[in-house]
Amino acid sequence: MATIFSGIKPTGVVTLGNYLGAMKQFVDLQDDNNAYYCIVDLHSITVQLDRVELMNNTRKLAALYLASGLDPEKATIFVQSEVKAHAQLGWMLTCIAGMGELGRMTQYKDKSQGNENVGAGLFVYPTLMASDILLYNTELVPVGDDQKQHIELTRDLAERFNKRYYETFTMPEPLIQKEGARIMSLTNPVKKMSKSDTNAKGYISMLDEPNVIRKKIKSAVTDSSGVISFDRENKPGISNLLEIYSLSTGTSIDDLVKQYENSNYGTFKQDVAEAVVALLEPIQARYHELIDSPELDEILDAGRAKAETVANKNLAKIEKAMGLSRKR
Ligand code: TYM
Repeated sequence: MATIFSGIKPTGVVTLGNYLGAMKQFVDLQDDNNAYYCIVDLHSITVQLDRVELMNNTRKLAALYLASGLDPEKATIFVQSEVKAHAQLGWMLTCIAGMGELGRMTQYKDKSQGNENVGAGLFVYPTLMASDILLYNTELVPVGDDQKQHIELTRDLAERFNKRYYETFTMPEPLIQKEGARIMSLTNPVKKMSKSDTNAKGYISMLDEPNVIRKKIKSAVTDSSGVISFDRENKPGISNLLEIYSLSTGTSIDDLVKQYENSNYGTFKQDVAEAVVALLEPIQARYHELIDSPELDEILDAGRAKAETVANKNLAKIEKAMGLSRKR
């Protein structure tokens, strides 16, 4: 039994990439572990966001967590800003982080590119993420491939803290799946599928209507060879669809390639679309039941109480290690 922590930002829609890369793992891991799954709203405010939209997104993400199969009896599900220790430890870790190492984060470099007024929050974003993880003595962090660098920084900060003060933090490990770690954009399959894509055809939202999903997959960019095989480098579009299909149905990529040996892209895409629709339809139905239910608030209230107890206890120890205490 390991302690698990992960989170998703309530910024914009939740994509199929978020689901296949992260959320699906969350569900698989909740049974035999001590898991914390967070809606990281403090990370969302690193970019300018309408306040009502953020509130709605927070609820939506919570409902999607539950609709995807997260069970509050098994995992602790909560909203980051409601457990104040996250921001507090975030500041403490910012004070031991270097400008150089933060500036080297590729996510920061990508997001700040060409923007002279880039927010300071975006720069210190990884220290808040480190705080999320370290606050619970987390051992495993299930994430997609793009978060690996942030977890490496988390480990560096933990090690630095442990050496400089007391042996306080557990070393977390990223848990990145072989398949699904990097679901690509449907319109540009050499780029990650991202909720911040300005072209909505590039991503599938977990709440897209079946017909929208069908259209998006039908128009997904592929290649002209007409052969359905897995080759990320030379056939990124088809490989991405194979990966999505495989993860949506549980059929291996090898078996799918055999199955579609004598088929064509049109038929293949239609089947991928139906597989994604079949995956998301029951999640969407449950989501609609939950979104305005009092049950959702009760679950998040209970999650906050559970997370807060652990976080406050650990924060007191960390503060003491750093000297933020009147008593020795
Ligand atoms: P976020 O909100 O961008 O994404 C949430 C999770 O989804 C994964 N993901 C993908 N996986 C596969 N293919 C894709 N196209 C794809 N797009 C996104 C991400 O890797 C992530 O696992 N910084 C984090 C949120 C965070 C966090 C944490 C995560 C804050 N604190 C503590 C783990 C632990 C982020 O921006 O994720």
